[in-house]
Amino acid sequence: MGFTEKQEALVKESWELMKQNIPELSLRFFTLILEIAPAAKKMFSFLKESDQIPQNNPKLKAHAVKVFKMTCESGIQLREKGEVVVADTTFKYLGSVHLHKGVIDPHFEVVKEALLRTVEEAVGEKWSEEMCGAWCEAYDQLANAIKAEMKEET
Ligand code: HEM
Repeated sequence: MGFTEKQEALVKESWELMKQNIPELSLRFFTLILEIAPAAKKMFSFLKESDQIPQNNPKLKAHAVKVFKMTCESGIQLREKGEVVVADTTFKYLGSVHLHKGVIDPHFEVVKEALLRTVEEAVGEKWSEEMCGAWCEAYDQLANAIKAEMKEET
């Protein structure tokens, strides 16, 4: 499904704002993930051993940024090419990593909810139905591509 120029602009605009506040937003994103699904804690190497969500943990920040940034890039690719393409890695690799970490399909809904709420809080008054729709579409396409590879491998 196509992505409009307007949708691309909305995703890019919010990502530009989010970039300025990565440490706080990463923490917020994981707090939301664990609020929605406390059981997700045991999957992440950096959450397993501690009672609290670690502040300034590079791995936590890395996963949060990957999800934010790859969703944004997925929106750009959807507009330019009509399909999701990943830079630096392959869907096969991403499918494999998630499968082996024990991620299952419903987890993607949890991360989606946390992502949308993180973007909403990050952009404040700029948040709109349309911006929500654009992130939602970009994320779904990206998540579907990862999920498809996870199924291939099983
Ligand atoms: C690792 C992206 C959704 C759990 C990773 C990595 C990337 C990534 C790029 C690093 C791979 C590596 O180089 O080692 C994404 C994207 C997602 C997504 C783009 C959504 C579209 C999820 C979901 C879960 C999850 C839904 C489960 C709640 C993990 C875990 C790791 C990982 C546990 C290993 C991290 C660690 O312990 O260090 N993900 N991910 N991811 N992902 Fe995701």
